[in-house]
Amino acid sequence: MKGIILAGGKGTRLYPTTIAVSKQLLPIYDKPLIYYPISTLLLAGIKDILIISTPDDIEQYIKLLGNGEKLGINFTYKVQDQPKGLAEAFILGEDFIGDDDVCLILGDNIFWGARLLELLQGAKNSNEHATIFGYPVANPTEFGVVEFDEAGNVLSLEEKPEKPKSKYAVPGLYFYDNSVIEIAKNIKPSPRGELEITAVNNEYLKRKQLKVQKLFRGIAWLDTGTASNMLRAGMFVETVQDRQGLYIACIEEIAWRQGFINDEQLRNIGTELKQTDYGKYILSLLDKE
Ligand code: TTP
Repeated sequence: MKGIILAGGKGTRLYPTTIAVSKQLLPIYDKPLIYYPISTLLLAGIKDILIISTPDDIEQYIKLLGNGEKLGINFTYKVQDQPKGLAEAFILGEDFIGDDDVCLILGDNIFWGARLLELLQGAKNSNEHATIFGYPVANPTEFGVVEFDEAGNVLSLEEKPEKPKSKYAVPGLYFYDNSVIEIAKNIKPSPRGELEITAVNNEYLKRKQLKVQKLFRGIAWLDTGTASNMLRAGMFVETVQDRQGLYIACIEEIAWRQGFINDEQLRNIGTELKQTDYGKYILSLLDKE
């Protein structure tokens, strides 16, 4: 399975901060925001990752992440000229996806919590055509919203509805089979001019090929589109890391635990960063084992 991270967009809700800097490069406490979605893909066991960003910002991502060799994985890059919608990822990523299945994650979505690994690997290894998730939120009008019947079957999906039919929002993490490329090519832009991911999901629903899995409350899903959400996410990460002494989204640790890199490679990365707590944490992993 291939992975795509969408790290473009305008970030208008964070202006003036994001006038000159891409949102997904901003820090969430001690690491750039994009580390969090990368960690989610690595936990799912996905090693081939396409990063999509704007013409202005793509070089910064290449500078930050390179070709992925250091983590024992592959990063590839693609420019999205205009933020024409989430579903454009599959059109831009057509060659990269090839004949594979694909997981899309939004660059500003953070997932953390109990049994996440199990959930991600389950979605990756299932035979479903499309798996998306439903997560209860207090403000469903800001998201794609799923309506379920009493048996838990999906009845409808609506993008940012004025009158939401449930409190279940669809987080920015989607697993699809290869037909997503053809589906994305055939949907029409919405009134706001975007190729909507909800249109893709509705097509799978029409084909009776959509699975919506409810996320249990032990999983935290944070999105970081506004200044207060970013601050809250940063405080959340700081609180958990300080309390547990275990890091959230340390991509070097995950690559090492997944066996993508060995002890020596991890030590080299830790040594380069050793003046920071982040680097010291990486080095401490080798002492503990
Ligand atoms: P949004 O939060 O919908 O948009 P945005 O990041 O441009 O922010 P704002 O609403 O404040 O203007 O985007 C969700 C994620 O998807 C975010 O990580 C940016 C990314 N994105 C793209 O890469 N390309 C796109 O065409 C769109 C719409 C979003």
